[in-house]
Parts: sequence; structure tokens; C-alpha cells
Amino acid sequence: MLTPIEQSCLRHRRHQLGQQFEGQALLWSGVAPFRNFAANHFPFRASSHFLYFAGLPLHNAVIGLEGGQLTLFWDEPHPDAALWHGPSLSRGEMADQIGAETYLPLSAVPTWAQQAATLPALSADTRQQQIEGLGRPVPAITSQGSQDEGGNRDRHLAAAVIQLRLQQDGFALDQLQQAADITVAAHLQGMRSTLNHASEAAIRAEIEAVMMAHQCPTAYASIVTVQGEILHNDAYPHALAPGDLLLVDAGAETPLGWAADVTRTWPVSGHFSSTQRDVYDIVLAAHDACIAAIRPGVEFRDLHLLAAQTIASGLVDIGILKGQPEVLVERDAHALFFPHGIGHLLGLDVHDMEDLGDLAGYGAGRQRCDRMGLRYLRLDRPLRPQMLVTIEPGFYQIPALLNHPDLRQQYRDCVNWDRLAHFEDVRGIRIEDDVLVTAEGCQVLTSALPTQGAEVEACVQGSTS
Ligand code: GLY
Ligand code: MN
Repeated sequence: MLTPIEQSCLRHRRHQLGQQFEGQALLWSGVAPFRNFAANHFPFRASSHFLYFAGLPLHNAVIGLEGGQLTLFWDEPHPDAALWHGPSLSRGEMADQIGAETYLPLSAVPTWAQQAATLPALSADTRQQQIEGLGRPVPAITSQGSQDEGGNRDRHLAAAVIQLRLQQDGFALDQLQQAADITVAAHLQGMRSTLNHASEAAIRAEIEAVMMAHQCPTAYASIVTVQGEILHNDAYPHALAPGDLLLVDAGAETPLGWAADVTRTWPVSGHFSSTQRDVYDIVLAAHDACIAAIRPGVEFRDLHLLAAQTIASGLVDIGILKGQPEVLVERDAHALFFPHGIGHLLGLDVHDMEDLGDLAGYGAGRQRCDRMGLRYLRLDRPLRPQMLVTIEPGFYQIPALLNHPDLRQQYRDCVNWDRLAHFEDVRGIRIEDDVLVTAEGCQVLTSALPTQGAEVEACVQGSTS
């Protein structure tokens, strides 16, 4: 299933880990949780750290990594399972698939594991397996971290894995481009089918059908909503009404686990109102300015501030904000309408490596700032070639912020509330692309999906191919 090039990429990753981390590491793939009986389980998703080094999503497997060598711990299914699930590979054949040098039964994990480091699993079942295998608890790795010996080993392993996963290699980029292409096709299908449908749910079905037809699950719960101001809205109960904007944040995940993360916002009628178009163009200006500024060495935080500045300036121009844009950004007034960060790392996970808290997103010695305009910034590092990030500015009218008495008082001189009332039909707009940092600048993996307002309208009207 893996090509020779992919296998050699995996060997290179293991070799690099062996150079950056002395000692043994054990990584669990995890098990699929079941519903009410063991054969009826939820979809299985192998742990991303496991996938990064093993390549294939093996169920209930453990890999041992040491000095660039891979040991597979895995048990062949009980022979009865063939009745329900078909034949299985032998342990040796499975080891061959992932290029393991050695293979052993799962029961051999504890003897191998005396001094091994690991990364904490996400599910309680797998965490329990880790405790039994390692003979010690495996607490979450946070910026503070635990100071005991096992915890310190885990933190060193986390630091080494982060350094590798921050920059995407050839195998990863091939997968990520596939995820991006399928996601672009899915969004186009959503746009082009909107006039034929009357509900959020029906458009979600169009989008996810494209992903499913490519054997891709979604990388996260799709957002397909006329209530774009609810940032992670994953319910689809609404009918579409003329004048609605539909915010779609949906991304495919390849069968090997690599993600895309794309947002577009389009008018369900095929035509933006003038207020919608004014705000859309401000968000688009922030999106375009950030992408134009991406190159190695640029601080991601500065891109966030560039987006904040562009949005503040646009909102002053249309009369929603009052004052000097620089001062408004210093006071975080833009965050009333753009409260989240400009983007995040993307890779095997949609918010890549956020299972490690801020260790991946924040460089050494950096931590989150609690300012309203910066507290949801998920990435604060200088960009490096082969980092993949999202750029996703937005504008939202979120009642919890705009009706908050303290915020209304704090920003009473910054917002023209009467003018804002004219923009009632703009609940939420976000435009998000997946951007690879290159040696010279950047490459937008999702550039085939239109962003210009007129092109988006044309797609919805079905007048583009
Ligand atoms: N796609 C959802 C997010 O980036 O948070
Ligand atoms: Mn995103």
C-alpha cells in the first residue's frame, strides 16, 4: 500500500528522530471505541504521532523507535474475525508494509518499555494501555509539564517530534495536496449545488459526498451554517433564506490521515448584498495581505497583527469602527469582530500537534498573551520553509461579545453602533486557505478555489465550470 518513495520517507523520519532523541520511544495507534457491542465501533482514527512514523493506520498497534529502527508490536486478529472482517495480514506481512525491522506480539511491550518515552494518547482506553505497557502514568504534556523522570523523557520526545512535524516532507506534501484538491472539489460542489437546495444539511451532504467518493472522511466536523457567527457551529438544522450567507468550513482527510482546512462564505442566492460585499472585501483584503507577506523568517504573530490592522482599517472606512486603525488594534477593538487567531499549523491534524498544548505552536520561551486580540492566537513562531499554515481572517457579529456590558463600555468610543445596525445581514464571514511556506515565499495549496467575491457569486450561480 505504501510506495517505495513513501517507505523511504518514513525511514528518513525515523532516522531523524533517532538523531534528535536518544533512547526508546513507544507510540500507540489506539483502538476504535465501540458503541454498545464490540463489533459496532465508531470510525477508527490512528494517533497522528503513530501515523507520522508508521505511515499506515494500523488498529491496536504499538511501534517502538530506537536509533532509527522500528519495532512493530501487533497481534493478528483472532481467526474467527475473518468471518466478519475478511482475511488479515500476518504480523510479519504487516511489519513489511510499514518497513519495520522487527516485529513482536503486543505482550512484549512491557519488557521493551522499561525506559521508553511516549506521547500521551487522546482516548482514555489507549491511555490505559499506555499505563499498563509502560508501568507508569502518562500525564498530558503541557507547557508546564510534569517533572518526574518519565514525564521528562516524554517532553524530550515531544520536542524532537515537534521539530520534525513542523516542516512537511515530500510524502506529507503529496498527501496534503491530495487533501487540499479533494477539499477544493467539495467546496465547488457545495457552491454549485446551493441554488438547488433549501437547507444547510443538504449542502453539507453535497460537500461530504465528494470527500466520501474519494474515500476521505472529514478532518473535523464540517461547519455549514447560516449562523457564521458561531465559530465552530457543527449543527445543520436551518433552512436557507434569501439574503443568507452560508459559511462553510470543511476539510477532507486522506485515508493516510493528512488534513485540509478550508473556509468559504457565499450568498445562498448567488448575490452578495452591498453590506455583505463590503465586509467580504475587507476580510479578503486581510487574507490576501497575509498571504502576500508569508516567507521564511516572518513572525506568524505579525501576520495576525497585519490581518487585525487590515480589518480595523476596512471597518473604519465603512464606518463601523471609529479612530486610527493602529490605535484600535493596540486597544484590541478589532477583536470585537475578529476574535480568533489568523491561523494555525496544519498537517496530520487540522490543528496540528495541539494535543501537545502550545508546545508546537509557541516557540521556546513564548507563551500565550491574555490580551483579547491575541489570546486565541494558536501559532507564535517565525515561519520556516515547508511549514503548512492556515490563513483565515474573519468578521463576525457575536452577541456574547457585542452585547457584553463591559465590552460595550470599554469600546464605547470605538464602535458606531448605529452604523453597525445596517450590517445586520452579515453574521459571519471567514475566508481560509492552506498555505505552504517555501524558500522564496509561499504556495497556496487551495488556490484553485475562488476567493474573489464576483467569482464566488458566479460559482454559486453555476456559471463557471
Ligand atoms: N477548521 C476549524 C478551525 O480551524 O478551527
Ligand atoms: Mn482552520
